[in-house]
Amino acid sequence: ALATPAVAAETTVDVIAHRGSSGAAPENTLTAVRLAIAHRTDVVENDIQRTRDGELVIVHDTTLTRTTDVEQVFPERAPWNVRDFTLAEIKQLDAGSWFAPEFAGERVPTLAEWVNAVGRRAGMLLEPKSPELYPGIETDLDKELRSLPAFNRALMAGRVVVQSFDHVWLRAYKDLAPDVPVGLLYSNKPTEAAIAAAATWAQQVNPSLGAIDQATVEQVHAHDMEIHVWTVNTGTAMYRAIDWQVDGIITDYPQVLRDILRRG
Ligand code: G3P
Ligand code: CA
Repeated sequence: ALATPAVAAETTVDVIAHRGSSGAAPENTLTAVRLAIAHRTDVVENDIQRTRDGELVIVHDTTLTRTTDVEQVFPERAPWNVRDFTLAEIKQLDAGSWFAPEFAGERVPTLAEWVNAVGRRAGMLLEPKSPELYPGIETDLDKELRSLPAFNRALMAGRVVVQSFDHVWLRAYKDLAPDVPVGLLYSNKPTEAAIAAAATWAQQVNPSLGAIDQATVEQVHAHDMEIHVWTVNTGTAMYRAIDWQVDGIITDYPQVLRDILRRG
């Protein structure tokens, strides 16, 4: 039989629940958040967009079709973009049945509901999606977050990061909120020059695990930043990321990663 790879006793890697415990519950719902906390995740990740009436909500795709019953409830409203619906309309949607029948009635959370559900129980990794579709969302995000005591507590405790694939947008947000740590998302392997440039203003470089090698991890650490990799769903890939000494692993299965880390 194959031996289980050993995990060094001194390993400190954050378990980060991708869209909540999205392997076991519908992504980006409060049930997925609560389950992630029950699975002893260190940090919960989410995706943020803005409704027609300016409210911030937790949903990954720019349309509502994959993760809600919007096509049944509002058949005339193709292409069902998040930005074309009010919060009251979005709150009518079932965000759970698509995943499994027992989650029927699950709702799309607001950012405030999501922050309050995480509270002191875990850190917060916040990802505004496609900010180019939402002019001024950096201002809305900053205003909303700072109105929430649970966010301010998490910020003081060093348990908040805002990340984005849109590095120009992220820089604008960082200029507005210099005290909030930020992370640059990469689908491809970041070059050494990109990592060096990021180090002048960002705190994390967060690439796809499949795009990088151990040298990338070393380069990010050489620039005193953290590296959090996504989306790591197999035991083999988890062991690889742990072996490379990444700082955090973003996974749909935080319970699997927690078990690996505990077993050693
Ligand atoms: O946290 C990283 C990961 O969430 C980025 O990809 O598409 O799942 O938001 P995506
Ligand atoms: Ca995300």
